[in-house]
Amino acid sequence: MNILVLGSGGREHTIVWKFKNSANVKQIFCIPGNGGIEEDAICEPSIKLSEFDKILQFVKDKKIDIVFVGPEQPSVEGIKDYLSSYGISVFSPTKEQALLEGSKIFAKNFMQKYNIPTADFVIANDYDTAKVLIKEIFKKYPDGIVIKADGLAAGKGVVVCDTIDEAENVIYEMMVKKIFKSSGEKIVIERKLKGIEMSLIAFCDGETILPLTHSQDHKQIYDYDRGPNTGGMGAYSPLPFISKNLEKKINDQILNNFILGIKDSGLGYCGVIYFGLMIENLAKENEQPYVLEFNCRFGDPETQVILPLVNNDLTEITIATLNKELKKIKLSFSDKYACCVVLASLGYPGEYETGKEISGLDRAKEFPNVLIFHAGTKKVDNKFLTSGGRVLGVVGLGDTLKAAIETSYKAVDVINFANKYHRKDIGQKGLKLLC
Ligand code: AMP
Ligand code: GLY
Repeated sequence: MNILVLGSGGREHTIVWKFKNSANVKQIFCIPGNGGIEEDAICEPSIKLSEFDKILQFVKDKKIDIVFVGPEQPSVEGIKDYLSSYGISVFSPTKEQALLEGSKIFAKNFMQKYNIPTADFVIANDYDTAKVLIKEIFKKYPDGIVIKADGLAAGKGVVVCDTIDEAENVIYEMMVKKIFKSSGEKIVIERKLKGIEMSLIAFCDGETILPLTHSQDHKQIYDYDRGPNTGGMGAYSPLPFISKNLEKKINDQILNNFILGIKDSGLGYCGVIYFGLMIENLAKENEQPYVLEFNCRFGDPETQVILPLVNNDLTEITIATLNKELKKIKLSFSDKYACCVVLASLGYPGEYETGKEISGLDRAKEFPNVLIFHAGTKKVDNKFLTSGGRVLGVVGLGDTLKAAIETSYKAVDVINFANKYHRKDIGQKGLKLLC
């Protein structure tokens, strides 16, 4: 089979790598790709992910059998609907299904209707209503509230507010100044939850949902979760602190109700569904998972630690999902742990440097139990240069979480570029919670 992967980050490099290990794959293509993906796939950097007509032509020219969509934007914009109308197999939810990520209001209403635990919320469709509602919600939940722009906002549309003044400022920016354009015209206002965050990612064909190992992202730029949010500075999997009780609640209340919901509503679903979870009262009798968000795609950098632990062939899972035959697949996982440390450019997540030469990649690759996934790199004259905020994901595998962390940091130490930045505490939360 010829596979086309859409996207350019560490997540897409991992997906390409996993397809490369499949016996069923003849050639892998990637649009637009990056410097590292070029080593594993034939890349076409001149096509933009919004240029559906050019992607269609590429699919025809290269005789692509399956298009696998990495990021959310093409799914939310309807790439599946467009390419499917030409008879092409696309691993992605439809535009309507992708509303689970593309509209927070749609997602919250879906969760409420199908009893999927989520933070108590209200919706405001205009600024005057929002001004009244934030006060009401604060009265009910004085510990804080969260304001969410309805539409996609490049990961910046969710603000946790501890005071009314902060909340007033946020709704003014979103609804009057329209900093997120139409994405912020309507908002969700909800209770601030307190606890431990985790990601659960699953394949879903509309009938069956098959979860992968759970993982934990590290969203903030500095150690111990300080500083502004980023796309994700590292991850590890599986989480060593998930009890049988919690696992059962996640299955019964979240995964099962999700399937019931997509069937009952007629929404259906095809692709990967990501549940961003908050666990309140972890390890106590009343521990409770809540869904913070759905994403209609794999997480980044969660994918870098999850896919290396999947024993199954990705092509087989992909085909089974497309054919609604996931119930025939039995997923199996390595009993190892994985830890991914993201190397970033100076300045990220603000304005950052680019064009720095990267050294040590060949040496790091030779380390046992190390995988290197490229994100913001490009290849020029046989050298890798930095070209993005998040540059590389360095993955270590080990028999324990501690061993996986140590392995990834050993490899991190031999990779260099000017002003390389990374967090030093990836996975430490997992070790602490283990005690
Ligand atoms: P979302 O895009 O909805 O996942 O929100 C992004 C981040 O905001 C999450 O990863 C959480 O850290 C935080 N967040 C979202 N909703 C809540 C909530 N109800 N309570 C506390 N934190 C939240
Ligand atoms: N790692 C968070 C995300 O992919 O949305």
